[in-house]
Amino acid sequence: MEVYTHDLIILGTGLAGLRAALEAAQQSVGDLNIALVSKLQLMRAHSVAAEGGTAAVMRQAEGDSYELHAWDTVKGSDFLADQNAVDFFVHEMPKEILRLDHWGIPWSRQEDGRIAQRPFGGHTFPRAVFAADKTGLLEMQTLYDTLMKHARRINRYDEGFVTSIVVENQRFVGLTMIDMLKGRLVFIRGKALILATGGAGQIFGFTTYSETVTGDGLAMAYRAGLPLKDMEFIQFHPTGLIPSGILMTEACRGEGGILLNNAGQRFMETYAPSKMELAPRDMVSRSEMIEIETGRGFPGPDELDYVHLDLRGLGREKILERLPLIREVTLTHIGLDPIEKPIPIRPVAHYTMGGVHTDLQGRTPIENIWAAGEVACVSLHGANRLGANSTAECLVWGRVTGAEAARYCQIAATAEMPKDTRQAWAPVEALLQSSGGEDHYQIRKELRHNLDLTMGVFRTNEKMTAGLKKIRELKERYKFISVMDKSLRYNTDLMRAIETGFMLEAAEVATLGALTRTESRGGHARRDFTARDDENWLKHTLAYRTEDGPRLEYCPVNISMWKPVERKY
Ligand code: FUM
Repeated sequence: MEVYTHDLIILGTGLAGLRAALEAAQQSVGDLNIALVSKLQLMRAHSVAAEGGTAAVMRQAEGDSYELHAWDTVKGSDFLADQNAVDFFVHEMPKEILRLDHWGIPWSRQEDGRIAQRPFGGHTFPRAVFAADKTGLLEMQTLYDTLMKHARRINRYDEGFVTSIVVENQRFVGLTMIDMLKGRLVFIRGKALILATGGAGQIFGFTTYSETVTGDGLAMAYRAGLPLKDMEFIQFHPTGLIPSGILMTEACRGEGGILLNNAGQRFMETYAPSKMELAPRDMVSRSEMIEIETGRGFPGPDELDYVHLDLRGLGREKILERLPLIREVTLTHIGLDPIEKPIPIRPVAHYTMGGVHTDLQGRTPIENIWAAGEVACVSLHGANRLGANSTAECLVWGRVTGAEAARYCQIAATAEMPKDTRQAWAPVEALLQSSGGEDHYQIRKELRHNLDLTMGVFRTNEKMTAGLKKIRELKERYKFISVMDKSLRYNTDLMRAIETGFMLEAAEVATLGALTRTESRGGHARRDFTARDDENWLKHTLAYRTEDGPRLEYCPVNISMWKPVERKY
């Protein structure tokens, strides 16, 4: 085993990870030795798939305000967001937009040269700043280019597959990592860790997430003793392309696209007459499912019945200028030109509202571990995230955690190397020696199908009970898997097996949390408990790992600005 020592370790190289690295490098003016670790090549992080925009208040003179952005976010969250986090966020965001502007991002612009903004669901003002429909890619590119100015201080471990977070005496000590390129086991020591590994969307079969988003950071944090918060809240984006699930950005509707059922009716008139297609995602997704389930959808492949997203009213020029990626994707994947025909879509698993429990500064209950972006739950999004608030969250808490962790590293000492790392490596070694009869690819397939069936847009006690039972059966079967490839170099068999173990943890926590929460709120809609129940459930779920499965506790929501009211659009 090789041992490398750094000051600050950042695990994950999406928007939150890169923003954190940049801030830490800038703050420490050369003093800090930073490791940037990813199981991917850096620019392949899932953030590059973010399309439609990043929310910020940029037009106060024209009627937008911090208070309005905060209110939209809190109402959108079905009042589960921590309002102090929301307040901090809305004030920070415009600065991030301008920083990116100064670093050279090609924001889409108005005729008069000002940064353009477009409408997004649940926002009462056109607030999404964008770069055509490739916002995440261009934000990533800009952060990467800017970070390269500090390249001397950054030690990159691209394609470093991390298998565990090692904590001793309630302090982070280091990471166990397989260097996939060299085929070596590595221990990376550090004074502090920022987790920025994204969500867990691959636990669903029909999803917008990249293959790589398997909940690694969530599961490793959970195994290291950190609580996962509000994992039952999964966002279903209303417009996933049939049959792949590729994201058809909400900007399609922000730019004027409409949703139609099989009778050509604009059905959102029934469900959200004031906001129509730009109601929050949880509502639009539920409306689509009701249309589909009551026979007003179109029959699709593999039970993926659908409705239509119609962009024809936008006209050719607007589609080419504002939504070029959408056209490229529909042409390439289903041979359909949205200039001429409506797009088949349905709700698709898109975002993990829950995550590792943090305070307002992104610090977890372990003093030298921070978390930022989708892996974290600060909680900005509560029970339902508004579109364009997640890339924004990555920027805000990437900066905050980068600064906080950098300050910490300047005064902290590196923890002693653990005397015995065998325990940390034991699961990997067991997999390399495994010869059981279970197929981990099959377990992953069954897990994802199970989540599609039991933890979708509408949930019931019966389905979730069956879902949890199935997850626990799969966990048992997982103990008897075998990994055929016994090498370490680019052993994708081993990596997929480890990822599936992570996915099983995330799925169990999400399902148990959902089954226990006997109300409907935001993205958690139950057919057997249809109302929001503030008296009993205006609280965050915290899941702690035990040998017998998750132990659930609860903690209060910060309600510093608005008392919950009925949520109408
Ligand atoms: O629809 C979209 O472009 C997605 C944006 C988001 O999830 O914030």
